[in-house]
Amino acid sequence: MEKLIIVANWKCNPTTLLKAKLLFNSIKRGVRSFKKIEIVICPPFVYLMAGDKRQATRIKFGGQDCFWEEEGAFTGEISPLQLKNLGCRYVIIGHSERRKYFSETNKEIGQKIKAALLAKLKPILCIGETRQERRKGKVERVLRDQLKKDLTDLSAHQLKNLIIAYEPIWAIGKGRACSFEDAKWARYLIKKSLKKKISILYGGSVNSKNAKNFIKEAGFQGLLVGGASLKPKEFIKIVKIVAES
Ligand code: PGA
Repeated sequence: MEKLIIVANWKCNPTTLLKAKLLFNSIKRGVRSFKKIEIVICPPFVYLMAGDKRQATRIKFGGQDCFWEEEGAFTGEISPLQLKNLGCRYVIIGHSERRKYFSETNKEIGQKIKAALLAKLKPILCIGETRQERRKGKVERVLRDQLKKDLTDLSAHQLKNLIIAYEPIWAIGKGRACSFEDAKWARYLIKKSLKKKISILYGGSVNSKNAKNFIKEAGFQGLLVGGASLKPKEFIKIVKIVAES
């Protein structure tokens, strides 16, 4: 059986390298014994440099985004090859905050997915509906549409290295997660649309109280954790609960 994956998305936090190191060290110490879980930390790019990611540590690293070219005159961008060469194994692509604040299109997200796969990174593609889309009963259409547009021209072999994160936008950073029933339904829709065995994670206000049920009740293969990943005690508790469930 594939390992369950717990991804920490630090977003644009914390504000100093010292704080990032303290956070990382507390998490590293706290999760040492939970060998059955693949733990992936996605810090801001600037902190990826602080320490050799190839060290024999159980924690894996990922970027929060990447560009679609390997190198060149693209001011401000980070390429998937640069992430790979820095020791990253994963990269989050198409997070709703990137779609919203940086106007990322499905076409661009598709290009990023391809480039990440080419660099031998595992892309974690984020998809999910807005509250309005949910109210209008459009969840199935939105998810299907995002998957179709973000994953065009990918071979079955390439799809094997892909991870999907179902992140209902209305549940992100709100302290109120999706119900297990609705999340389970979304997971079923994603599976049906992909027709492949792909790991699907849940993200959106995950905490130590709801983490277990997204795995046990809703059947996800892991979690994408934002806010709670910045609180070492809470994050370690999530890992522990999932590991022991
Ligand atoms: P949250 O963020 O856990 O703070 O809701 C999740 C995410 O945006 O990936």
